[in-house]
Amino acid sequence: MRTLAFYNLKGGVGKTAAAVNVACCAARDGQATCLWDLDPQGAASWYLRDTAGLELKAKKLLKEKNALDSQVRPTAFPGLDLIPADTTYRHLDLLFEQSDAPREVLAKLVKPLTDRYDLLVLDCPPSFSRLSENIFALADTVAVPLIPTPLSMRALAQVSEFLARKDLDRGQLLPFFSMVDRRRQLHRQWLTSPTEAPPNLLKTHVPYASIVEQMGQRQSPLVQFAPHSPAGQAYQSLWEELRQALGSGRSAERR
Ligand SMILES: Nc1ncnc2c1ncn2[C@@H]1O[C@H](COP(=O)(O)OP(=O)(O)OP(=O)(O)O)[C@@H](O)[C@H]1O
Ligand SMILES: [Mg+2]
Repeated sequence: MRTLAFYNLKGGVGKTAAAVNVACCAARDGQATCLWDLDPQGAASWYLRDTAGLELKAKKLLKEKNALDSQVRPTAFPGLDLIPADTTYRHLDLLFEQSDAPREVLAKLVKPLTDRYDLLVLDCPPSFSRLSENIFALADTVAVPLIPTPLSMRALAQVSEFLARKDLDRGQLLPFFSMVDRRRQLHRQWLTSPTEAPPNLLKTHVPYASIVEQMGQRQSPLVQFAPHSPAGQAYQSLWEELRQALGSGRSAERR
């Protein structure tokens, strides 16, 4: 099983939209896929029509080896399962506090899923926290959506610094441009000035498109209800790039 996280310190940059659509593309591509909604806001769970929330009990998770297994639910989308959001915010934090290896908690929890899935996708909240340290320690690849503006570049630099400070692997960060609006001069300028391109930038740009917002009303991935829209095609091509990156990186060595 390979693990792909969608992360940015910055909020509202398209992490969840990308995580849900890429997970759906992976499932359609024949990969047994599980998406773990790690954000208490629960947006990914909502898009995948799961509103029941997680029933994690920290004690149970600490004691029982396969406790996470019972939290995995099928979604309405073939080949895609979900671990819904912990909307109480509390259980993972409790686990981090109680663990002897607080950076390895997520990795331990997902071990029982290893044989069951080809791909685990993590939708992450926008913060630096014990949770984000766990995410970086676990993920084979961290995809970072960036709105093409100087502030976003600054957020990416901060993520790199955080990883360096915490001695976490930096090679795995794969930024891509998100919510790109070519009518905006600033966006065009960043897209066409390769000297300022961040390292390991993916080729795919996800365009700004109001159809992406319809995911909330339809409770469905865009690639499900509008696969041929420009944004739907962008998520498909994002998945293809990420599949290659996952296949040739650290993850492949681990398999
Ligand atoms: N490509 C896009 N074009 C237009 N709107 C988008 C696009 N991607 C996401 N959105 C909208 O922008 C908002 C934020 O997107 P999303 O929830 O994916 O971001 P996020 O980075 O996960 O946010 P948070 O940090 O709050 O978790 C949502 O309302 C979503 O529908
Ligand atoms: Mg989100």
